[in-house]
Amino acid sequence: MTSPPPSRNIPKLITGYADRWSVRAGESVTVYGSSHRPGQAELSLVKIDCGDPTSAGPGFSEHEVETNLPSVVELADQPLVPGSWASIELCGLPQPSDTPVDKIRLTFSFLATVAGEPQSLASVVDPSGAACDLVVGISPEGQATATVGNSILVLRQRPIVEQRWYDVDVTWSLAANTVKGTACPRRTVSPGRDLLEPAEDPYGIDIKTTPGGPTPAGPTRLILGGNRTGADCDGRIATPALTIGLHELRWDLAADMAGSTVVDASGHGCHGTFYQLPTRAVTGPDWDGTYQRWTDHPPHWDAVHFHKDELYDAGWEPTATVDLPEDLPSGIYAFRFRCEPTDGEAQPHEDRIPIFVRPAVGKPTAQVAVLMSSATYLAYANHRMLFEGANFIASRSSLRPEHDYIRAHPELGRSMYEEHADGSGVMFSSRLRPVLNLRPGADGWNFTPDTDINAFVEHTGVGHDIIGDEDIHAEGAQALAPYRVIVTSSHPEYWSTNMLNALESWQKSGGRLMYLGGNGFYWRVAFSDAWPGAMELRRAEDGVRNWQTGDGESYHAFGGEYGGLWRRLGRAPNNLVGVGFAAQGFDKAVPFDVNESTLNSRAAWIWDGVDIEDGKIGTSGLGGGAAGQEIDRYDTRLGSPEHALVLASATKFDPDMIRTKEEFGGSVSYPDPDPYVRADIVFYETPGGGAVFSASSISWFGALARGGYDNSIAQMTTNVLTRFADPEPFPIPDQQD
Ligand SMILES: [Fe+2]
Repeated sequence: MTSPPPSRNIPKLITGYADRWSVRAGESVTVYGSSHRPGQAELSLVKIDCGDPTSAGPGFSEHEVETNLPSVVELADQPLVPGSWASIELCGLPQPSDTPVDKIRLTFSFLATVAGEPQSLASVVDPSGAACDLVVGISPEGQATATVGNSILVLRQRPIVEQRWYDVDVTWSLAANTVKGTACPRRTVSPGRDLLEPAEDPYGIDIKTTPGGPTPAGPTRLILGGNRTGADCDGRIATPALTIGLHELRWDLAADMAGSTVVDASGHGCHGTFYQLPTRAVTGPDWDGTYQRWTDHPPHWDAVHFHKDELYDAGWEPTATVDLPEDLPSGIYAFRFRCEPTDGEAQPHEDRIPIFVRPAVGKPTAQVAVLMSSATYLAYANHRMLFEGANFIASRSSLRPEHDYIRAHPELGRSMYEEHADGSGVMFSSRLRPVLNLRPGADGWNFTPDTDINAFVEHTGVGHDIIGDEDIHAEGAQALAPYRVIVTSSHPEYWSTNMLNALESWQKSGGRLMYLGGNGFYWRVAFSDAWPGAMELRRAEDGVRNWQTGDGESYHAFGGEYGGLWRRLGRAPNNLVGVGFAAQGFDKAVPFDVNESTLNSRAAWIWDGVDIEDGKIGTSGLGGGAAGQEIDRYDTRLGSPEHALVLASATKFDPDMIRTKEEFGGSVSYPDPDPYVRADIVFYETPGGGAVFSASSISWFGALARGGYDNSIAQMTTNVLTRFADPEPFPIPDQQD
């Protein structure tokens, strides 16, 4: 059954997410749904053959699959509550019965990133109620304050300055019913900047607190980055310590960097928990540039950056769980929610939540697997580029309801293409939340184009399975081993070390790789078992990027590896796929010019039946050709194998197609025409009878389906796919070939 393509005109009511993206036949997946119009909705599992409703593909196509899912479910309006924070239980601290807790002292350092907004930096929670909590925060006037009940102590007269560290020291005497304290600015490396920010300041003399009196129990919790109701902070907290009666506690925020535990470093066992994945491995008040890697001297990274807009896990109530049949064909599937239109609405409300189904363990069903770029989908999750406009996007496609929804609901959390509200780069992304652009038809990048590649491979009849990036990260080369051919997505940009190692090792043992995209294998990313479903990215040093990692913050919290471009980590993509990111420009796509010397080469078979028009291929496609958006160049300087054949190249782009930033020298000038701005289709042999074919263009997908798959690009891709699926080894080429 084929449904109509998702509508452009219906505002979104239903959203949801699944607990996993990549699953195996025979496993279970839980879906979490929500509707802004609570009530009943139909639920089905659908197999998506092509999720692209535009003319770039063969047409939207899906069909329902029999499962144990209930056909109708009740959808509540489930909230999203973003904001990272930490909570530390203080239970189990023995106090002599004749010595009640008469004094609480809280010290920590903070750096505000949005000093103009009131916020709670740290709170000591009292068992007798919110009115008895001690909350250290920033007031609406921008001053650091300590609040107990109605009593507000101004810790420093001068307003807090953004991006500057302050040391807080607050003592609450329960015996005397007084609070006193200070917030002193740290000295900086700028004598001028320090001139008007002296350490001395008329500050908090003792003030009387309204409630009070010694308490036998003492406080129950310390909260960092918020108050007893949750997150309420944009900025960094460092070196927290608390004295409760006889006990002196402190926490090491540089410990368990990849985890979710706030580690008690004082031996009291009062460990806490981080919620919603605050940003770790960021510099603290003592960092002075002596070290760059946090593992070399953790005390300099003893800080956590909290954001009010971070969302790791929506934490919704589950809606339904599907037990996938053991024999369910591998493919792209989606949970489809649908509820009928009401008054005046022309179409039903729908949402499709994709999952990628692999075959059951040990039961691959094909020689070919299409690789869904789940790491790239995570990086782009809920990106706002089409309506906020990254500075490198010259053209924008028309918006869809999913984009309107992302714009209207910032509580969805951001993508790695944005900054947080406080201007710091988004270094973590998670799939445990609705990801609105991971929807068939919702976005011209990544997932939807990748369903076009899936549909193309399906059309060839060669037979294929689906695997996901996360499978390769988790299982290494084992995830690839069953397959002779891996077909990539349109934009496999983000790779963890595990993933890259696995691909390299699979290639060394004869794997055949069809890279049908552009700007692949570009950034290093990292994952952590302690935060399943989350990914970390440091946009360090260079590269085409919307933000840059801060000073001293180029190493991942997840695993401690140096972040940034694989090209700067000794593993330029050219080494794996013969090409690497050359240029990007979105105004138009162009054809490839055929390298005629290859027509009778050892790669002549790739040209079989390929219709060459005036020396060109790929003359039709999304934007006007098969080469466009982001393109890759053959370059032996960067590791492209010398024996590779460049079958065709595209060079005649519009002026907006500009070389990558990492190719700029000391100035922004470059020759015209620029020899670095080139998309090169390459083929070459690899060990064990393997081979590589690289299309070197994101726009490749949009040329495949033209003329009902009757075109030069489809023919060439089919030739390669068919030959790559054939077990006959590729011979090692003669040096003279
Ligand atoms: Fe990208």
